[in-house]
Amino acid sequence: MDTERFAGKVGVVTGAASGIGRATAEQFLAAGGSVVAVDLDADKLAWTDSHDRAVAISGDITSQEINAAMVQAATGQFGSIDALVLNAGLPGSGDVGEFPLEQFDRIIDVNLRAVLLGIRAALPELKKNRGAIAVTASVSGIRGDTMMWPYNAAKGGVVNLVRAVSIDLAQHGIRVNAVCPGPIKTGMTAAINEIDEIREGLRSHIPLGRWGEAKEVASVINFLVSDEASFVNGAVIPVDGGVTANTGQFLPPQVPG
Ligand SMILES: NC(=O)c1ccc[n+]([C@@H]2O[C@H](COP(=O)([O-])OP(=O)(O)OC[C@H]3O[C@@H](n4cnc5c(N)ncnc54)[C@H](O)[C@@H]3O)[C@@H](O)[C@H]2O)c1
Repeated sequence: MDTERFAGKVGVVTGAASGIGRATAEQFLAAGGSVVAVDLDADKLAWTDSHDRAVAISGDITSQEINAAMVQAATGQFGSIDALVLNAGLPGSGDVGEFPLEQFDRIIDVNLRAVLLGIRAALPELKKNRGAIAVTASVSGIRGDTMMWPYNAAKGGVVNLVRAVSIDLAQHGIRVNAVCPGPIKTGMTAAINEIDEIREGLRSHIPLGRWGEAKEVASVINFLVSDEASFVNGAVIPVDGGVTANTGQFLPPQVPG
């Protein structure tokens, strides 16, 4: 671990109370940076209390006020923003004929619209610093999953939002990229990870033969917002153990669990 990689740099991470967001924020701190950690879950943001260079903002990223507050916290406490990690997300699945529209709207709001709100709020600061943006999409934004169309639609939107915005912001020296995790052990997947059939079913489709860890996604996100990725822009990077390399016609050779 390079403890100087983010020395003097300021990162804002949404969905930072747990899982991939928390791992990203912790790695950013360990590499010498300062972090504004944003999440709905105020209690779980308490991990930041033991860090001098971390500030927690609790609230809903679908509100413009919270997006303004996170930018204000970054500039007020640390002076600027160099890296914006828009990672908070919400799963959603159901019957295409019956799924409540309000729930669909909420899934689009959190997973897609809030990405735009975050980018807009941080844009003036990112322009000053020629900063970088990383967004957590999903393998479910690249292909479809049975019953998961609300999430597939939202994450698919995120993937192409990232591509298109990366073209427009490049003139300001701002890079925009996405990671697409496959099955990762986090709070979001804790319940399905308890069900043997689903856990093993998903595992059997992963060529590497195991679920991923939050830190394995976080390290790719932190690469993307670092200067080491200075010529990576508009990229959509699977972090999935090989799931999306497969057409899905045949299961990969099975690796013992
Ligand atoms: N875990 C996986 O297998 C997986 C796979 C692909 C993509 N992802 C994506 O990774 C991202 C991080 O999820 P995770 O797996 O670490 O799950 P997680 O549940 O551990 O973390 C998600 C965090 O987002 C926060 N959040 C949700 N809605 C919010 C809102 N409206 N405002 C503020 N915070 C909000 C939650 O409180 C939670 O702390 C999500 O975008 C998710 O869709 C996860």
